[in-house]
Amino acid sequence: MALRGHIVSFKGDPFFAPNDKVLVDINDGLVIIRDGIIQEVGAYSDLIDHVDNMADVIDYSDCIITAGFVDTHVHYVQTPIIASFGEHLIDWLNKYTFPEEGRFADPDYAAAVARIFFDELLRNGTTSALVFCSVFPQSVDAFFNEALRRNMRMIGGKVLMDRNAPSAVLDTAQSGYDDSKALIKKWHGRGRNGYAITPRFAPTSTEEQLLAAAALHREHPSTLIQTHISENVSEVSWVRSLFPERKDYLDVYDHAGLLGLRTVLAHGIHLTESERERCAETKTSVAHCPTSNLFLGSGLFHMRLAKNPKHPIRVGLGTDIGGGTRFSLLETMGETYKVGELTSYPLDGAKLFYLATLGGAEVLGIADKVGSVDVGKEADLVVLDLQATPLLAYRDNHITSTTEQLFLLAIMGDDRTVAATYIAGHLAYSRENSGTAV
Ligand code: GUN
Ligand code: ZN
Repeated sequence: MALRGHIVSFKGDPFFAPNDKVLVDINDGLVIIRDGIIQEVGAYSDLIDHVDNMADVIDYSDCIITAGFVDTHVHYVQTPIIASFGEHLIDWLNKYTFPEEGRFADPDYAAAVARIFFDELLRNGTTSALVFCSVFPQSVDAFFNEALRRNMRMIGGKVLMDRNAPSAVLDTAQSGYDDSKALIKKWHGRGRNGYAITPRFAPTSTEEQLLAAAALHREHPSTLIQTHISENVSEVSWVRSLFPERKDYLDVYDHAGLLGLRTVLAHGIHLTESERERCAETKTSVAHCPTSNLFLGSGLFHMRLAKNPKHPIRVGLGTDIGGGTRFSLLETMGETYKVGELTSYPLDGAKLFYLATLGGAEVLGIADKVGSVDVGKEADLVVLDLQATPLLAYRDNHITSTTEQLFLLAIMGDDRTVAATYIAGHLAYSRENSGTAV
């Protein structure tokens, strides 16, 4: 099969190279897909002869075709508590999050939420994500079962937390290690699934648990590690009082052996300059979650400082549902731009789309498989419709370059803009049929 449309993709990083060197921009393009893999990408006129049957060509001529979006930080188990009123991080966790995550002891409840979560991902054009489950292994089973059923490239893990939360949602250093190890055996590398070792954050893990998490990663080095860092000023001072012997918040994770190329830290709003340097040195990534940071009043992430050319950090975008308020990576790009404006670092359409596609895939260590519309990659694609709303269509008439068009989509796009989502070459969501195809 083949998709015809305006192909936009990346072959490099627009933070450190001019757009014309890194942007793949094929106005009337064709993507030819066989067995779920992209076989050829090029101009429609050059490639149409390579298609045996014209009935196999799906025409999205008025639309942009890009790699599916990558959400580098999201909690599927918080889908039921999006838009919970009135608290900052720690009170929000105690009042809404921990009680909700306790409900995932019930596998039927977990399975029902997983279905809604994946429906929302696809409706919003998200094809891969790095996901927190709850403390219960059955919540992880529900997540990976649903990912497997939809054949999506997903990474997730059981949250580890052995203190400072209600006992109903606590494990122990030993049980958390044992459960995670069993889940790695069961799910890591099964279908397109990957496992992430998931200590929630320093306040809810003892040093013993952080050390066990790092040991588990050393035993299974192809897993990821995900946690939170420096999201909220009260959280940062709490960590200082819990770990007085550590230099700073990052040093808690560093000392435990949790930093590295396969580690993703969510938020990082209040990191210091030396912590940023250490992130860069250890190749540790950060997930920027602007809708959450604004919703919870946590603060403004400094992309400019993260992208300091002397010690740049790899950054992806995260929705952080349910602290975050939107599943849409398009809306998340829009909020990334606004936070950038407030911190004197406006990001253009190319940078925003890079963060949500190839940049995110690099953060998750899956850029060899997804993240761009490139020969040999898995055909996880999204089709974006510039005619989706009257105002979008009207504004698009006045646009002269692809970068401007991407910017328009980032500022005004949302789930209505997603015409179709393809998973490994199969139509998994179509707006026309107003629902998922699986
Ligand atoms: N820090 C620790 N746990 C959480 C969580 O569930 N959400 C957010 N936004 N921050 C956290
Ligand atoms: Zn989070």
